[in-house]
Amino acid sequence: VKAGPLKVMIAGAPASGKGTQCELIKTKYGLVHISAGDLLRAEIAAGTENGKRAKEFMEKGQLVPDEIVVTMVKERLLQPDAQEKGWLLDGYPRSYSQAMALETLGIRPDIFILLDVPDEILVERVVGRRLDPVTGKIYHLKYSPTENEEIASRLTQRFDDTEEKVKLRLQTHYQNVESLLSIYEDVIVKVKGDALVDDVFAEIDKQLTSSLDKKTEMVASA
Ligand code: AP5
Repeated sequence: VKAGPLKVMIAGAPASGKGTQCELIKTKYGLVHISAGDLLRAEIAAGTENGKRAKEFMEKGQLVPDEIVVTMVKERLLQPDAQEKGWLLDGYPRSYSQAMALETLGIRPDIFILLDVPDEILVERVVGRRLDPVTGKIYHLKYSPTENEEIASRLTQRFDDTEEKVKLRLQTHYQNVESLLSIYEDVIVKVKGDALVDDVFAEIDKQLTSSLDKKTEMVASA
C-alpha cells in the first residue's frame, strides 16, 4: 500500500509570501496549487456574475461570500489532478465556515503552514509587489526585481495592492485566522516569513518532508 499524496494548506496575512512559497513548493513536490485569490481574479477577468460580485468585496478588503467561494474551491479541489498529485491550498479556508465546509466533505490537510510576518513589513511588500501578466510570476520592486528590462516594462499591479486597502485586508485576516487555529491545531506549523525567500522555503521544505515521512510510516505500520 502506498501513502496518498501530500495535502497542504498555507495561510498568512496579505503579502506574507504565500504565492511566492507556493511556486517553490509546487516545483519541488509536484502538488496542484489552488489559490482562492487567483481563482477569483480569473472569474473577474472572465467577466462572470460571480467575478463582478467578488470584486466588490475584494475592493473593500473583505472576504468574498461563501456562496461564491466555497463551491469554486471545492470543484477545483475535487478534480482528478489534485486528487492524484496532491494539493496545495493557498488562502483557503479563511474562516470557520469555509473550514467546516471542507470538514463536512472529510477533506483535511496533512499540514497547515502559517506564515508569520510583522505588519510593518507586510505593507511595504504589498505596495512594491508587481506581477508579470505573461508568466504570472510575482516580483517586488525592491526585494525581487525582474530578470530583464522587457519583463520590467510589462509589469502590472493588483487593484487591491494599495496601502489603504492592505490595512483593511489585514483587519479581515486577523478577525478570521483565530477560528482556524483550533480546527487545524494538530497539524499547524508556524513558519517565520520575514526572512529571505530561500530561507523561508528551506524551513517549509523541512516541514513538508517530515510530513511526507510521517505519512509513509503510518502506512507501513498499518
Ligand atoms: P489573495 O489573492 O489570496 O491575497 P492575500 O491573502 O491578501 O495574499 P497576497 O496574494 O496579497 O499575498 P501572498 O501571501 O501570496 O504574498 P506574495 O507571495 O505575493 O486574496 C485577495 C482577495 O480575495 C482577499 O482580500 C479576499 O477579498 C478574496 N479572497 C481570497 N481568498 C478568499 C477566501 N478564502 N474567502 C473569501 N475571500 C477570499 O508576496 C508579496 C510580495 O512580497 C511580493 O512582491 C513578493 O515578491 C514579496 N516577498 C515574498 N516573500 C518575500 C520575502 N521572504 N522577502 C521579501 N519579499 C518577499
